[in-house]
Amino acid sequence: MKKVLTLGLALMTSVAALSSSLAQAAPKIGLLMADLRIERWQRDQNLFEKKAKELGAEVYVQSANGSEQTQIGQIENMISRGVDVLVIVPQNGEVLGNALAEAKREGIKILAYDRLIKNADIDLYVSFDNVRVGEMQSEALIKRVPKGNYFLIGGSPTDNNAKMFRQGQMNVLQPAIDRGDIVIVGDQWAKDWMPEEAMKIMENGLTANDNHIDAVVASNDGTAGGAVRALGSQGLVGKVAISGQDADLAAARRIIKGEQTMTVYKPISKLASASAELAVKLANDEPIKTEQVLNNGFTDVPAYLLDPIAVDKSNIDETVIADGYHTHDSVYQ
Ligand code: GAL
Repeated sequence: MKKVLTLGLALMTSVAALSSSLAQAAPKIGLLMADLRIERWQRDQNLFEKKAKELGAEVYVQSANGSEQTQIGQIENMISRGVDVLVIVPQNGEVLGNALAEAKREGIKILAYDRLIKNADIDLYVSFDNVRVGEMQSEALIKRVPKGNYFLIGGSPTDNNAKMFRQGQMNVLQPAIDRGDIVIVGDQWAKDWMPEEAMKIMENGLTANDNHIDAVVASNDGTAGGAVRALGSQGLVGKVAISGQDADLAAARRIIKGEQTMTVYKPISKLASASAELAVKLANDEPIKTEQVLNNGFTDVPAYLLDPIAVDKSNIDETVIADGYHTHDSVYQ
């Protein structure tokens, strides 16, 4: 009995020693957000942090508040904190190459979160199928407005996603343009995805076209909101079809009221938990297999891409609301 007890104690001590050495080895993850002014990102941050901590990681978070310079400084800061993995939503996907080369020299792994980082040595890209997002936007508009004048509002020119959305939008629009059914009467990009930018773009677009615009391909809900304000000044809300993306609360409400045609719902919880799991694997040098790769100008980056969901009035209950992304009451007020 005594022997068993001694053995048990010895085992307990070694388990304790093992778990304390495991605790010491908790992976350190730096999460660098680009800009929390747009509704979805706070949710991304919270869900990522929660999941990564559940998996035993330590997480340091910083937001660049829309400044690429600030973000570069934050990468340097994370390198000096000795993180194992950097998870980055790039503010400008084109300018991080040097800072990340420095991180790589320190053996830090890099995961591009939602937005691809171009021309840099990164380990993994986790996002949605962003070309498909753009296709869904155009598909919904063309269904409602098969012929007419279309106005395009792209997102931030420094966000690679904005270009992928546009690629998808054009995949669907081009055949109708070639048939002469659709005419593109304007094409602008909203700096930093700001709704105020989109509002100005829409005001100018309406003036330039004597209000003859039938559909607006807005690349996300924030820019759609800005454009809807401009349409409102001309009494055109609900008369002009308009797309969106992100299932922002304000957009969900506009859809119910018939002020916005559709949004693209991207289940952020899946993106955040997959990213947290993969970041921990990267920290532990575990191999990661993905079905896809995307070339970022430097290398073929393994890509893990989730499916977006097109949402309009007819399916908002069984998607956005059923998922608990927003409550029924908050959407229907
Ligand atoms: C994109 C992202 C969208 C939207 C936009 C503005 O990169 O994929 O969901 O939020 O940024 O922040």
